[in-house]
Amino acid sequence: VDLHDLLNLDEIEALATKKMSKKAWAYFYSAGDDLISKKLNNSVYRSILFRPRIFVDCRKCDTSTSLLGHRVGTPLYVSPTATARLAHPTGEKGIAEGISSFGALQIMSNYASLTPEQIVADSAPGQIFGWQLYVYKDRTRSEKEIAKINSMRNKIKFICLTLDSPVMGKREDDERHGNAILTREADVDPKSVKRKKVIINSFPGPALDLTWKSTLEWLSKHTDLPIVLKGLQTYEDAYLAMKCASVKAVVISNHGGRSLDTASPAVHTLLEIRKYCPEVFDRMEVWVDGGIKRGTDIVKALCLGAKAVGVGRATLFGLGAGGVAGVERVYEILQAEIETCMRLLGVENINQLGPQYINSRAVERD
Ligand code: FNR
Repeated sequence: VDLHDLLNLDEIEALATKKMSKKAWAYFYSAGDDLISKKLNNSVYRSILFRPRIFVDCRKCDTSTSLLGHRVGTPLYVSPTATARLAHPTGEKGIAEGISSFGALQIMSNYASLTPEQIVADSAPGQIFGWQLYVYKDRTRSEKEIAKINSMRNKIKFICLTLDSPVMGKREDDERHGNAILTREADVDPKSVKRKKVIINSFPGPALDLTWKSTLEWLSKHTDLPIVLKGLQTYEDAYLAMKCASVKAVVISNHGGRSLDTASPAVHTLLEIRKYCPEVFDRMEVWVDGGIKRGTDIVKALCLGAKAVGVGRATLFGLGAGGVAGVERVYEILQAEIETCMRLLGVENINQLGPQYINSRAVERD
């Protein structure tokens, strides 16, 4: 298959589904219970309608923006996802290579199947990363990893602490395919992926006792990198995050629907924040993820106040469909769709996007 014959993310997912082992597919595809949140994450964008303007000069289209003070070519970024080598032997490094020409940020998972050093090795000059943290019950183990990340600050610019999954959601596709929990310790052997035998192990014990005060104090003691909190789903938590000096951004996310099923998609939380606590958008960066399939989805999230938009599964399916070239194709499609959307909407740069360009009434609740 010529990847350029694949015109959208659904077609790439279909190819990846054919190429990957059933177990790998189940791990990437699965979500909590009845997949309600996972499906809503995507469908909610379809109910938001655009309000394009006419007579706007659209010769220029600038998608660059700044995230945590770093200039990036696009507001699109790679969400942290575990064990990318299940999709393709190049794993997270393949993702880094695939996005290198788009100036997109990549957040590597705490449970990546390659080490941070391997992932950033030989990355393009100026290409930057974030590192996602799940706090272990054994804090000294987390502290060692944080110390290593601190020493890689030329490439790794922030720590993203994920808070929406103290325990795993009930993911029946995983259970059905015999997937226990995947871990970096398993260090998936690319040969075993070829043999379609997936090595699966258990995560190191997660800490179940995290709190706003003690956890952020502990983390600030061990790093002075900016802290991003991932997995907020209410305006109340966005407000509390805004009050914490070490928190520079939040990711509104329901973990791609993999944790609590029937939790709200990020769009609803963005609307809540806008209604009850709009100062959040001025005081810190609000990023979102979940269900991104089209450039128009991304532009709508930006109109609602998001500063950056993360892509999880679609990145993995690109990797599964064609390795580095597959990831490149996913970002090429999304980037082109963002630009087409901006031109048709009548905006020439990201800063101009705002609620005036959409009608979100169909998804507003109260
Ligand atoms: C994830 N996600 C995730 N999040 C995180 O903070 N650490 C992790 O290790 C993982 N692992 C992971 C594995 C897989 C296979 C998926 C699909 C997701 C969640 C991820 O960062 C992001 O929130 C969602 O993937 C966004 O939704 P979409 O784009 O997959 O719909």
